[in-house]
Amino acid sequence: MIGTLVFVLIFLAIGLSVVLAAMRSGRPPAGSKPESRGARRAWGVGLALVIVVLGVGLPVLILVTNSDDHASHGAGGTELNAAATNGRELFARNCATCHTLDGSNAVGRVGPNLDTLNGGNLKPAFILDAIKNGRARGAGQMPAGLLVGQDAQDVAEYIATVSGR
Ligand code: HEC
Repeated sequence: MIGTLVFVLIFLAIGLSVVLAAMRSGRPPAGSKPESRGARRAWGVGLALVIVVLGVGLPVLILVTNSDDHASHGAGGTELNAAATNGRELFARNCATCHTLDGSNAVGRVGPNLDTLNGGNLKPAFILDAIKNGRARGAGQMPAGLLVGQDAQDVAEYIATVSGR
C-alpha cells in the first residue's frame, strides 16, 4: 500500500522534473541574460541526482525495509525463533487439517482445539508425546509418527509458543 504510493510519487517527481527541464531548456525570454554554461550544467547534474535518488535509492530502500518478511511474527505479537518458524510451516502441512489453532488460522475440527485444550497452556513434551504415539481415545484418530525428530520438536515448540494467543 505505502509502496504503491511511494512509486506513484516517484513517477510524479520524475515527470515533473522532465517537464521543468524542458521548460528550462527553452529560449530565455528576450531581454533576460542567457544562462551561463555553468548554471545549465549544475542544473543537469542536479536533475540527474534527483532522478537517481528517487528512481533507484527509494525502491532499494523499500526493498530493504520490506525484506524483513513476516514469517517470524507469531500470533498475539509473539516472536518466533527459527525452530518455531519452521514449526509453523510444518503445522500448516501436517496438523492444520485436523486441529484449530488461531496462530495458524487453522480451523480443523477432527481433533481438539489446540488454543483451548488445557486452557491453551500446552507443554512441548505433551505435544511431542501426542505426535510420537498418536491419539485414539476419543471420537477421532490421530496417526502416530506424523513427524519425527527435529521436525516434531519444531512443531511442538511452535504450538507451545502460540497456543491460546
Ligand atoms: C487426521 C487428523 C489429525 C491430524 C493430521 C493431527 N491430529 Fe492431533 N489429534 C487428532 C485427534 C482426533 C485427537 C484426539 C484423539 C483422542 O481424543 O484421543 C488429536 C489430539 C492431539 C493432541 C492432544 C493430545 C492429548 O493427549 O490430549 C495434540 C497436542 C495434537 N493432537 C497435536 C497434533 C499435531 C502437532 C499434529 C501435526 C503433527 C496433529 N495433531 C495432527 C487428529 C489429528
